[in-house]
Amino acid sequence: MIIAIASDHGGFKLKETIRKHLAAKEGIQVVDLGTSSEESVDYPIYGKACAETVAAGKAQRGIVVCGTGIGISIAANKIHGIRCGLCTSVEMAELTRKHNDANMLSLGGRITDEALALEIVDAFLDTDFEGGRHQRRVDMLDEM
Ligand code: RB5
Repeated sequence: MIIAIASDHGGFKLKETIRKHLAAKEGIQVVDLGTSSEESVDYPIYGKACAETVAAGKAQRGIVVCGTGIGISIAANKIHGIRCGLCTSVEMAELTRKHNDANMLSLGGRITDEALALEIVDAFLDTDFEGGRHQRRVDMLDEM
């Protein structure tokens, strides 16, 4: 599985932690789309880059991080075919996979501590979409 990751300066530290966490897993290739330091940058650029990579099929999943996770998730969700869930708990990560078939995860580097963030990442990667009644709703999202 190829996973694209990106952040702004507010999410840089957590994005680096996630990159190392993913690199240690077997069968996962990480594509890091930046940013590369804590110097101030604009989160829409990074949310868009990650979302376009996923939407183009160059990665199966995307993980984005900004200070709150809000701005970069808004950017990602503007790209057609992207369902990016902003999660602050393991339960939210499980449910955004089960119910929304989320293909991207957003996290807040200033909101969620590293240990919990890595648990959320693992739940996001390890949980399958339930389909059934949720498929109709995902199809409706994709038609928008
Ligand atoms: C940057 O200061 C901050 O606004 C950004 O990381 C994010 O929280 C926006 O939603």
